Amino acid sequence: MKEEYLKQMEEYADENNIPIMNKRGINFLCKFIEQNDIRNILEIGTAIGYSASKMAMCGRNVHVISIERDQERYIEAVKNIKKLKLDKKITLVLGDANDLSINFGDEKFDLILIDAAKAQYLKFFKKFENNLADDGVFISDNMNFHGYVDAESEIKSRNLRQLITKLKKYITFLEENDKYDTKFYKVGDGLAITAKKGVF
Ligand SMILES: C[S@@+](CC[C@H](N)C(=O)[O-])C[C@H]1O[C@@H](n2cnc3c(N)ncnc32)[C@H](O)[C@@H]1O
Repeated sequence: MKEEYLKQMEEYADENNIPIMNKRGINFLCKFIEQNDIRNILEIGTAIGYSASKMAMCGRNVHVISIERDQERYIEAVKNIKKLKLDKKITLVLGDANDLSINFGDEKFDLILIDAAKAQYLKFFKKFENNLADDGVFISDNMNFHGYVDAESEIKSRNLRQLITKLKKYITFLEENDKYDTKFYKVGDGLAITAKKGVF
């Protein structure tokens, strides 16, 4: 029944042009969660709660806090999570992740998934860096951004070009970082896994 409902969520996302993680990306993530006994997850960018639900379902001890700024999507996510009976495993937060009122004090997360506005990845990273457990990881989605990251010269739209420039700046920040190591994976739309030096 849950699988059927998740399929309906995929269809809803498709029909309403709501970007959700693709199957290969989410399966990779799930395997990572299982293999590394990930428990405490912070997700930036809930949309309709698809990846939050998938992550909550892949480990018995997983708890997800997920932030979404769009009220309509947040309401849809609340509904979906109730239907899937995951409301004890997922806490949804309505608001802009950059807002000062959204902070988790000293709470530490094993995994922080960044899957929201692509131009703001660096901001999200810096804001939640102190909430990463010592052996925790950031996972950033859309590192290839549908192939545009490697084909910048073909981009006609100015907005898209600016977005790709910011995404590239974030990639350089990860690659040249003194405190963190990052592994890039071509799975899904491109995933980056970042951990403090010495963890990998
Ligand atoms: C790619 S979708 C998330 C998909 C979701 N992780 C999944 O795979 O099911 C990105 C979402 O992030 C939200 N978003 C973008 N910037 C945000 C911000 N600064 N704070 C909170 N949510 C944000 C958007 O409204 C959008 O619904």
